[in-house]
Amino acid sequence: MGRKKLERFQDNAERYNVVEDGKPNFGKLIGKWRERHFKNGNDLVVELGCGRGEYTVGLGEHMPDTNFVGVDIKGSRIWVGSSYAVENNLSNVAFLRTQIELLENHFGEEEISEIWVTFPDPRPKDKDEKKRLTSPRCLNTYKKLLSKDGWVKFKTDNTFIFDYTLELFQNKQIEVKNLEYTHDLYNSEYMDEHFGVKTKYEKLFYDQGENIKYMKFQFA
Ligand SMILES: C[S@@+](CC[C@H](N)C(=O)[O-])C[C@H]1O[C@@H](n2cnc3c(N)ncnc32)[C@H](O)[C@@H]1O
Repeated sequence: MGRKKLERFQDNAERYNVVEDGKPNFGKLIGKWRERHFKNGNDLVVELGCGRGEYTVGLGEHMPDTNFVGVDIKGSRIWVGSSYAVENNLSNVAFLRTQIELLENHFGEEEISEIWVTFPDPRPKDKDEKKRLTSPRCLNTYKKLLSKDGWVKFKTDNTFIFDYTLELFQNKQIEVKNLEYTHDLYNSEYMDEHFGVKTKYEKLFYDQGENIKYMKFQFA
């Protein structure tokens, strides 16, 4: 492992805003994020596959009275968002290092107010369907952890995973309500909903001329 990565892991290990394996609170915050971690009663918004956490910290800056948790398995990426949050005193922002498949080990039923899925790996091979962050298994987990009528918001450059997700709803594999979507977020009425915060991947693909797709829905 490179020196830079090791230093980042060491920083993460010492930071309050990174929850990860080896720390006493890892797996102990189920249903208790507000009370035990943020020490307030504010809503909890979770970004899945947050990477460097641009969205988590960006939304955290816009909404200081909401708690934000970015989830990713890559510690060196999380370090970037975690550093920004430390440097800018964003006490409403935290990061959880875990596999998204294990989300139920970390959040309680109906604990989350809103879930953002931002630019997930599309995983186009059939054999990888289970690894898609909008697979039926993942969506059923999100349904359990979201508060009643909580929103899922999903942004991607990738037409395959976007249309795959829409098909799950159209063929009723997953029942949703109030579904709205656009294949061109930046030329749509939904622009305000993403607060002008671009993730690393969003910027990369947008600059290459890709349309950014966006959908939001609630579980039925
Ligand atoms: C394409 S990147 C997008 C990062 C960020 N959301 C952005 O828009 O810049 C996908 C991210 O999801 C994370 N990821 C993919 N599958 C995951 C899983 N099963 N559990 C946790 N993180 C995962 C990867 O580590 C990576 O950081």
